[in-house]
Amino acid sequence: MIKVAIIHGPNLNLLGKREPDVYGNQSFEEFLFELKSDFPDFDFSFYQSNIEGEIVNFIQSCDESSDYIILNAAAYTHTSVAIADAVAAIQTPVIGIHISNIYKREVERHIDLLAGYCKACLFGFGLQGYRMACLFIRKEIP
Ligand code: DQA
Repeated sequence: MIKVAIIHGPNLNLLGKREPDVYGNQSFEEFLFELKSDFPDFDFSFYQSNIEGEIVNFIQSCDESSDYIILNAAAYTHTSVAIADAVAAIQTPVIGIHISNIYKREVERHIDLLAGYCKACLFGFGLQGYRMACLFIRKEIP
């Protein structure tokens, strides 16, 4: 089994209800159910927090236990040196992801403090981006 930790930052617990024109109508719980059936060879863990330090703690705790991390740090992407440092500090490769195309949005979203420490990044593919990340990981992990 390929062990993948999906980590979500602030307000992503509201997916499905929050700004559906930007983020869609589907809750992440519902999407994760589909993702698990699409990738039966994956062992997914999922963690969401609205609190920066908790996300740092979880990233550190994944280091020994995951093959890959898929990280949508949400608004912290644009502000958190602490989360960027956590991504830089660990050995586990991280795929940074955004549901929306952050470069087509407000200028404060154009700064991604994490991307330079990530193995790869995806943005603007909606929730499909998570499927794309998993297809990539499947090819990467022997
Ligand atoms: C987001 C983009 C961020 O700018 C925003 O703060 C989010 C979600 C995305 O997935 O498109 O909360 O990370």
